[in-house]
Amino acid sequence: MTFTKRTHTCGELRAEDIGQPVTMNGWVDGRRDLGGMIFVDLRDRYGLTQVVFAPQHNSAVHEKAHELRSEFVLSVTGVVQPRPEGMTNTDMPTGEIEVVVDSFEVLTRAEIPPFEIEDEVDAHEDLRLTYRYLDLRRPVLQRNLLLRHQVYQVTHRYFDEHDFIEIETPVLTKSTPEGARDYLVPSRVHPGRFFALPQSPQTYKQLLMVAGFDRYMQIVKCFRDEDLRADRQPEFTQIDLEMSFVTSEDVFEIMEGFIQRLLAKTLDVTLSLPVSRMDYFEALERYGSDKPDLRFGMELVTLNDVLAGTDFKVFASVLEAGGIVSAIKVDGRADEFSRKKLDELTERARALGLGGLAWMKATDGSFQSPIAKFLSADQLHGIRSAMQAEDGDLVLIAAHEQRTRALVALGTIRLELGRSLGLIDASAHSLLWVTDFPLFQWDEEEGRYYAEHHPFTSPKSRDLHLLDSDPAAARADCYDLVWNGNEVGSGSIRIHDSALQAKVFSILGLSEQEIEEKFGFLINAFRYGAPPHGGIALGLDRIVTILAGLPSIRDVIAFPKTNSALSLMDGCPSAASEAQLKELRLELKGRSEELKVKSEE
Ligand code: AMO
Repeated sequence: MTFTKRTHTCGELRAEDIGQPVTMNGWVDGRRDLGGMIFVDLRDRYGLTQVVFAPQHNSAVHEKAHELRSEFVLSVTGVVQPRPEGMTNTDMPTGEIEVVVDSFEVLTRAEIPPFEIEDEVDAHEDLRLTYRYLDLRRPVLQRNLLLRHQVYQVTHRYFDEHDFIEIETPVLTKSTPEGARDYLVPSRVHPGRFFALPQSPQTYKQLLMVAGFDRYMQIVKCFRDEDLRADRQPEFTQIDLEMSFVTSEDVFEIMEGFIQRLLAKTLDVTLSLPVSRMDYFEALERYGSDKPDLRFGMELVTLNDVLAGTDFKVFASVLEAGGIVSAIKVDGRADEFSRKKLDELTERARALGLGGLAWMKATDGSFQSPIAKFLSADQLHGIRSAMQAEDGDLVLIAAHEQRTRALVALGTIRLELGRSLGLIDASAHSLLWVTDFPLFQWDEEEGRYYAEHHPFTSPKSRDLHLLDSDPAAARADCYDLVWNGNEVGSGSIRIHDSALQAKVFSILGLSEQEIEEKFGFLINAFRYGAPPHGGIALGLDRIVTILAGLPSIRDVIAFPKTNSALSLMDGCPSAASEAQLKELRLELKGRSEELKVKSEE
């Protein structure tokens, strides 16, 4: 098919172009018939231009334009003219001009789309995902993918300038332990054996350090079969790095320079460095989270000292059991919290695993509260001063024998109140390193340790001796990068000594045989001269989501999966044919009908 190629995109004509003959290609964004003339906004990814079919200018063309409908694809040739007096549109970059059409071709007709192609669309997300190619025509999604493209470009340039080399690692891999389930790929050639899609290139990038590549980076797809949320996809993209002969300080420096560059290039925002740091336990105690949002205050305050020796049973029993009483304060807005609202907060605290939530309204130099009568004057005074409470403030108190449970619940309530009370400055960018997580996490149910980060993470050198005596107390040389309360990156200095690596595996409860089977290749590699090394991986989707100021990573991924890990557009995962299964020597248990329903849930 032939068509007249464009001389201009739909986003570039301005008043300077008046009088020029032009040709544009694009989609009909909408058609209006006004005063005997037909107006069409022609759209492409660069913008919109108003084109006019005027009977007095060319009656045949005007007549033919009656057939135009939304989403028809056109090639339009005409002359740029100023819009008539009073008709300029200052909201549109091309709003001073219009193109009066001399001739046009309908390149393709289109059916009526299932939803309007516009930014404010009220179609359900499932419908939009089913017709993702139409959804992606919406300017907002085009902007998001353009932003994502910019992030790739800044990333490649920055790391290239800093001597990183990009190396691709395999997609058909051996399972890597990042804590999620693997997506498995059956091998036809080796029946009964499976590749795992990489949860991250973790082991490969460490092997590249052993190979001497010194500074590696890759923008890479990772795959994890885990419960999905707004910030999680089963396949997502990491900016993955590894460096040799470094300490965590070197990783911080490289990363901070990168985030600074990214903010400058994409949003023209200046990030002042260095990024602040907070120890994991401090983050938990002050914000009830390992990824605190520092764009607002409302810090948690531990009241154990103030309440030591209290007769009030609820607090006394928690303190005796080694737990924590912690509180937050809502400044000056106690009046906004009716009894009903406070009951709702208490319910929320219960849902978060607490027995309840105590509230106290600061009034007349003391407190109005159902629990005030159980506390001594000294304790009430102590709470006021620890919280720096003034009349009109609301204090909310959480208590639990398990410190982490109390702190995390209160941290969640802090965040929800921060949002609902409008305390968060959406235009602010707050970055933070959270460091020194525990090396291991004890799983009560399974009676075994898990690696808090992953099993290749080095213990802090000062804590090496704890591996024998008290592994739970050992801290890791690891770090998370937190951006506006989101974990956008995570990394560590690695173990590079095969004996230490074997020891960590054994604390994790892996038998000699399992270690050999799963990680023998890595431990082996370490025997041949492994440099000290460390690195980090950033969640690229999460970063673009934050830069775009959006709530869900699905909005910055061209073809995302739903929360139940389905692709609605092409209907995958889909069934395999009998022949394929046979070839792979796989047999499905259960009737195909049952399996079908399950996979469509
Ligand atoms: P981690 O598992 O913490 O570390 O992942 C690094 C970063 O990747 C992002 N991320 C995700 N984004 C979207 N959807 C998901 N399902 C998802 N899971 C993780 C997060 C996270 O901070 N190999 C180590 C890194 C290292 O030690 O160098 C790793 O993968 O932003």
